[in-house]
Amino acid sequence: MTFYPGQSLADAVREATAVLSDAGVPSPRVDAELLADHLLGVGLGRLRAMLLGDAAAPDGYGELVQERASRVPLQHITGVAYFRHLELRVGPGVFIPRPETESVVQLVIDHVAGMREPKVVDLGTGSGAIAGSIAHEVPGAHVHAVEYSTFAHAWAARNLEPLGVSLVQGDLRDALPEHNGTFDVVVSNPPYIPADAIPTEPEVALHDPPEALYGGGADGMELPTAAAASAARLLKPGGYFVMEHAEVQAQWIAGMLQRAGRWQQITTHFDLNGKERATSAILARVAPDE
Ligand SMILES: C[S@@+](CC[C@H](N)C(=O)[O-])C[C@H]1O[C@@H](n2cnc3c(N)ncnc32)[C@H](O)[C@@H]1O
Repeated sequence: MTFYPGQSLADAVREATAVLSDAGVPSPRVDAELLADHLLGVGLGRLRAMLLGDAAAPDGYGELVQERASRVPLQHITGVAYFRHLELRVGPGVFIPRPETESVVQLVIDHVAGMREPKVVDLGTGSGAIAGSIAHEVPGAHVHAVEYSTFAHAWAARNLEPLGVSLVQGDLRDALPEHNGTFDVVVSNPPYIPADAIPTEPEVALHDPPEALYGGGADGMELPTAAAASAARLLKPGGYFVMEHAEVQAQWIAGMLQRAGRWQQITTHFDLNGKERATSAILARVAPDE
């Protein structure tokens, strides 16, 4: 790598783009720019203007590029993940929120439109992306969040406290028993990857916590099934459950909800790339066999 003192910003970013590209980073130019901006703090628009002039590369840029070239996630280096309107603090031990989950939040926001003070819980909140966005975007909402991992819980606490979300550390299988039958919405992006489907991207395989990825059981469906059972426990009759999943799991999830015999209006939803990445359902007002 040929970074040197006094190098121009434009040269250094060009060099960084080549280094990141050789390392297989999917968006090398943008990452090279974002790393420079992380050090300069001027914003991407101004940084791009600076690239046209004779500004110098910031100290420490080569080291950050090297770290990213070793496939440490960009968000772990900058400490920030952008999700809808939020700037979340993230780092080792917490799942980096993904763009497709923004569509799941939108489903909740659309569902509660017109409701007064909806009561919502996010099971497996990770960084707090879903819970925090709902608290931020739905005025009057009472938002709760549950997270099992001690590390993720610490990141969530940092992100959710300023937004007034009520966070507990616990297992989504039995959390919040004192709130049984009281929620308008249960939302979850649980771990759902099958045990043998190890992700190929190093950022995911080596840096997302395993407890955020693998859903349990050969098909990865243990925790999604548990999340659905908890949703049936936590929701009011007529309440709304929505869960993210892998595209290939859409049919299985719909069948699982059907077989549970508690759900109506089971609906599969597409993300912005047209993939079946979420399923929602309404808790029946009276269980069919009662
Ligand atoms: C796929 S990540 C999603 C995180 C966040 N909701 C998001 O969308 O970015 C799943 C999260 O569930 C948490 N988790 C795993 N098992 C859990 C359990 N039994 N109870 C509660 N949370 C759990 C993981 O630690 C992780 O933070």
